[in-house]
Amino acid sequence: MNTAPLRIAVAGLGTVGGGVLKALQTRGGELAERAGRRLDVVAVSAREREKPRAADISGIAWVDDPSALASADADVVVELMGGEDGAALALIEAALSSNKHVVTANKALLARHGARLAALAERSGLALKFEAAAAGGIPIVKALRESLIAHGINSVCGILNGTCNFILTEMEKTGRGFADVLKDAQALGYAEADPALDIGGGDTAHKLALLSSLAFGTVPDLEHMHVEGIAAIMPEDIRYAREFGFRIKLLGVARRVGAGIEQRVRPAMVRAGTPLGEASGAFNAVAVDAGEAGPFFFEGRGAGAGPTASAVIADLVDIALGSFEPAFGKPAHTLTPLVPAPATDASSAFYLRFNVLDIPGVVAEIAGHLADAGVSIESMLQRGRNPGEAVSIVMITHDTPQASVTRALKAIARSDKVLGSPGVIPMELG
Ligand code: NAP
Ligand code: HSE
Repeated sequence: MNTAPLRIAVAGLGTVGGGVLKALQTRGGELAERAGRRLDVVAVSAREREKPRAADISGIAWVDDPSALASADADVVVELMGGEDGAALALIEAALSSNKHVVTANKALLARHGARLAALAERSGLALKFEAAAAGGIPIVKALRESLIAHGINSVCGILNGTCNFILTEMEKTGRGFADVLKDAQALGYAEADPALDIGGGDTAHKLALLSSLAFGTVPDLEHMHVEGIAAIMPEDIRYAREFGFRIKLLGVARRVGAGIEQRVRPAMVRAGTPLGEASGAFNAVAVDAGEAGPFFFEGRGAGAGPTASAVIADLVDIALGSFEPAFGKPAHTLTPLVPAPATDASSAFYLRFNVLDIPGVVAEIAGHLADAGVSIESMLQRGRNPGEAVSIVMITHDTPQASVTRALKAIARSDKVLGSPGVIPMELG
């Protein structure tokens, strides 16, 4: 057994990097006992040397150029800078080419380059580990890679973005506006450097691509994925969801459909009181259907320094123990291209909100277009108004194909009594 200290070089000292250094400094003794050797940070890099950091870096070698860490006297390079290309990719490639293990939290980079980097790591018997890249502190990568392997996975469905879940929860709880709550998420270290990635669903897509690869043994694939974010969700949608006993969640879903895989990211109404509906704030939650092993539900903090550092350190301890599998659970050359599920006409119930002029005949007109398209209404409500103001009409449909809803909405959009774009959110009733 190797008892020499594991020498670690860290690129990026922001939310995650700062959290990792702090935890290694405060819990170093206990971690060394678990790892059977010390975990020593020997070199660090970030953009600004003088910036205050969450941990003391005074005794650690500093390099200005992060790619120089690939030639540092280290066993592992930890990439925590972010960005799908650029400095992060250059460092990871250089580190693997220089015989160094790599740990990263960078889902954007791995969703695009993961299979190739995994092959590069395997050629030299090196680890490429990324527990922190999906669902923060939840050990879902390890669970899919090493634990839930006996019977195959049918589906993975989760709340994978802490920023969006925090925003939706705070808006519901406090009635505060979107932009205001986003600022809090940024201050708490939840959001990406470019928060459009969170809001637009891109970050969830990156994580879903990784979980899908681990679950189904496919190359991470962003091309065959429907991606919608939460930007079109209005405060009134959140209020109406509550009235109907639902919560709006941004869900990433990957599932087997016939011989193919369906991957989609979109907001959905989830019943309050269910485990997924109750995962709130920056928490993430992942439901896995593991075939004969049954359903599993994981929940925990999905973003921020503490949970993410926890996942990075778990990877480092595995490396210290010499315990590492191929990055995606199978040798990289055996990962297959993802075969997308045929574009079937998925059915669900839908929440529909229309802003309309409060004049006679408007409800009948909307209901008529829905009926013509074969969309049946389960319940409906209309809120009062101040004289002269538009009113909201909210409808929950019975189970209906998406194409029928789309057809009805096209006809409704031509009405001069309906104002602006409707709110349209599928309902997860399972
Ligand atoms: P962050 O707070 O913005 O920190 C980024 C760090 O990288 C900073 O220390 C920055 O230096 C440094 N950096 C960025 N570009 C650099 C470059 N070109 N050269 C040298 N240093 C550079 O970001 P973060 O939230 O810690 O996220 C880091 C990574 O973890 C990202 O891939 C992110 O997607 C992922 N992640 C984040 C979370 C989370 O909750 N925040 C969770 C899971 C995964 P300065 O400090 O000097 O500016
Ligand atoms: N921006 C990401 C989130 C960080 O909000 O979930 C964790 O991956």
